[in-house]
Amino acid sequence: MQNSKKYLVTSALPYINNIPHLGNFIPLLRSDIFVRILKLQGRDVLYICGTDESGTRTEIEAQKQNLSEEEYCKIMHKKFKEIIDWFDIDVDFFGRTSSQSNHQLTKEIFLDLYKQGFIFEKQLQILYCPNCRRYLPDSYVSGICPFCKSKDAKGDQCDKCSKFIHPTELINPKCKICGSKPIIKKDKHLFLDLPKFSKKLEKYINENKNFKAIERNLPLAWIKKGLEPRCISRNLKWGIKIPLSGYENKVFYVWFDAPIGYIAATKDFCDKNDLDYKDYWQNKNTDIIHFMGKDNVPFHTIIWPAELMANKKYNLPSRIYSNEFLNFEGGKFSKSLNKGIFCNDKIIKKYYPDIWRFYLSSILPESKDSDFEWNDLKEKINNSLIANYGNFEYRIMSVANKFGEIKPISFDKLTNNEKKIIDKIQIIINDYFKCAWNGNLKDALNSALSISDIGNKYFQKNKAWELINSDDKKNKLEHILFFSFVILLNCTILLHPFIPKKTKQILSIFIDDFKINKSMKERKILMINNNINAKKTKPLFKKIE
Ligand code: MF3
Ligand code: ZN
Repeated sequence: MQNSKKYLVTSALPYINNIPHLGNFIPLLRSDIFVRILKLQGRDVLYICGTDESGTRTEIEAQKQNLSEEEYCKIMHKKFKEIIDWFDIDVDFFGRTSSQSNHQLTKEIFLDLYKQGFIFEKQLQILYCPNCRRYLPDSYVSGICPFCKSKDAKGDQCDKCSKFIHPTELINPKCKICGSKPIIKKDKHLFLDLPKFSKKLEKYINENKNFKAIERNLPLAWIKKGLEPRCISRNLKWGIKIPLSGYENKVFYVWFDAPIGYIAATKDFCDKNDLDYKDYWQNKNTDIIHFMGKDNVPFHTIIWPAELMANKKYNLPSRIYSNEFLNFEGGKFSKSLNKGIFCNDKIIKKYYPDIWRFYLSSILPESKDSDFEWNDLKEKINNSLIANYGNFEYRIMSVANKFGEIKPISFDKLTNNEKKIIDKIQIIINDYFKCAWNGNLKDALNSALSISDIGNKYFQKNKAWELINSDDKKNKLEHILFFSFVILLNCTILLHPFIPKKTKQILSIFIDDFKINKSMKERKILMINNNINAKKTKPLFKKIE
């Protein structure tokens, strides 16, 4: 086993039944940016995601479209992959929870937990629709949340207050297929004995200094109130079969097998690439880092660590970066109300990926909910991106184009003012990485942009464009251009994780095969040691009308 520090970064595996809207897309974007920032630092990171395919949602959608669950998932998985590729989400592997490896691993972990006595059987009262003649698990049933009274709570969790719900607790339950009122029937089910893990979970959360407010307070409050055993079996056909006699007609609850999908996807990737997945999941030198929306936090801070603690074979998550919700023009995204933007909408392709990435990055719901607004998109793109960074880049390029090749100058030839600027940029670089590790990627973006602010001021003050026609000022002009390029390079490197395509074009001006990964290994401002030939450039951005 290699013992160098490694990182395994995941983004919550999206449910396969809904094309993600921009709000669902946030964890993917944040994890992608984070991974790219780790790579700037030269860190060894594997980035995993995939589709979450088990469960009632899949059965319902497949039925609606007259497809088998297999066919349906195959088609949707492909669509999801196309979406993440289009947005330049650079995952190393995009797996599926329906994979062979996940079936095997889930059964293995389940049997181990069962043998150790962490899983018990219990008679249950569950909802049954006499009209459809079937049991109604999770999202087959909806009703009023018994806790916060919001409408349209699902049979397993309320989206409004995030609380776990048992279907029989729903007020005014309704069958989602036919709308009729379900009756209560008896059935035996399997339970994960969560109370056995209360102490350990509490210790784990308290001792994990990397967990921030939501990731810490929410599970701790639950533990304090007392955890309840969690039902992990469901009356469904589609999913992972429970390897116990008497359970032939049941499968695992989707949240039992989904996170195991992280391990299974890692394994699938490693098997294909001659790597060992244990280097990631069993090596104490690997940090497991999960990105997700806040509604996923209870699952990742209670159920998932409890499964791992019981099994004792794999690493526990070391960091969890959750986000608040993104709203759309003051309301919620909603498929049924046709509100919001979905990742396969036509409008998406109207702008290139970096536009979406930049705007969403600038409004990331990291410390509170935020709002997508069309006017704001225009304003952020035209002002923060184009008038600030784009303008700086364009001004340098248009003078440098006329100048020709620019030779590097050494540090001791810089003016005092330039040396001061270097110090300032160094502080910004440190800030940038600090923000990123705290999960404040929006702030990291703002740090990066503040460098182009500095650049614009420097360029403005030195009036480079006025020097272009006087031969005796050639050296001065070359000096100014060189230093402007130093500023541009550093700004561009830090922006790269946010807008990878456009920045890559700019970076190629500096050095042909610029090594972006590792470029900020020391977190030190980058100097330029070679000639710069700016001739090949044209303006990169167009304003949004
Ligand atoms: N499918 C879930 C959702 O979209 C997330 C699953 S995350 C995993 O909310 F841990 F289970 F993989
Ligand atoms: Zn029904």
